Amino acid sequence: MLAIMGLDPRANHEPALLDFDTVSFVGLDGATILEGVTLGILEGQVSVVAGPSGAGKSTLLRLGNRLEVPTAGAVRFRGEDLGLSDPRVLRRNVGMVFQKPIPFAGTVRSNLKVADPVANESELGNVLQRVGLDSSFLDRVADVLSGGEAQRMCIARTLLTKPAVILMDEPTSALDPKNRLGIEALARELANEGIGVVWVTHDLDQAHRIADRIHVLVDGRNATASETSLYLAQDTPEVGT
Ligand SMILES: Nc1ncnc2c1ncn2[C@@H]1O[C@H](COP(=O)(O)OP(=O)(O)OP(=O)(O)O)[C@@H](O)[C@H]1O
Ligand SMILES: [Mg+2]
Repeated sequence: MLAIMGLDPRANHEPALLDFDTVSFVGLDGATILEGVTLGILEGQVSVVAGPSGAGKSTLLRLGNRLEVPTAGAVRFRGEDLGLSDPRVLRRNVGMVFQKPIPFAGTVRSNLKVADPVANESELGNVLQRVGLDSSFLDRVADVLSGGEAQRMCIARTLLTKPAVILMDEPTSALDPKNRLGIEALARELANEGIGVVWVTHDLDQAHRIADRIHVLVDGRNATASETSLYLAQDTPEVGT
């Protein structure tokens, strides 16, 4: 059953795989971007983070695998503060898919091998198949793929690290409707395999299709119950930047 966080007082009392505990973040220019955000990512669930443009959703994801460090509060993976984790181990456990794909130079095969140097051809073919690409892509040059193909390759690359949590920042914004639904189905499969999937989106129809729980951020903080209801009741989802 879909849990709308902010409306569900049990939210903060379940043991979380990835735990954002009263997290604040002040940017380089001194502006407060996140203030006291508390949110738990559970294994085997798709947790959607929604909220208006500029609310701090991408910043929150970046704190989730230590691309940024909180100014106050803590982010914990399996109970351990990320600041105490080996960053290389952490980034394998907590994978990140950015809104804009970042292919490395070389072929798709060499991109995938960065994530798993010992993966064999059939493992590489299988992971491509999961994101809707066939094995003929292995020999393609990665930085001339279309935006949607590159995005799917980047998702495959992240999957090869076998993350326990996968942070996805508007992962389907470059995809056509068929591939968008394919990646949504993949998110569900990953959750069914026990992975904690975090999915940032502006698309409220999509949020309702895929979410086990929805967290709404407003102005860098957890939305109140009434703000959450108002935001989710919008007929027209806000268009992102
Ligand atoms: N390192 C930084 N230093 C200063 N300001 C920043 C920094 N990172 C983000 N910001 C600002 O913080 C706010 C939140 O940005 P963020 O990208 O997290 O929002 P968002 O919710 O992901 O928005 P969108 O839906 O448009 O992607 C914005 O006003 C942004 O300009
Ligand atoms: Mg963003």
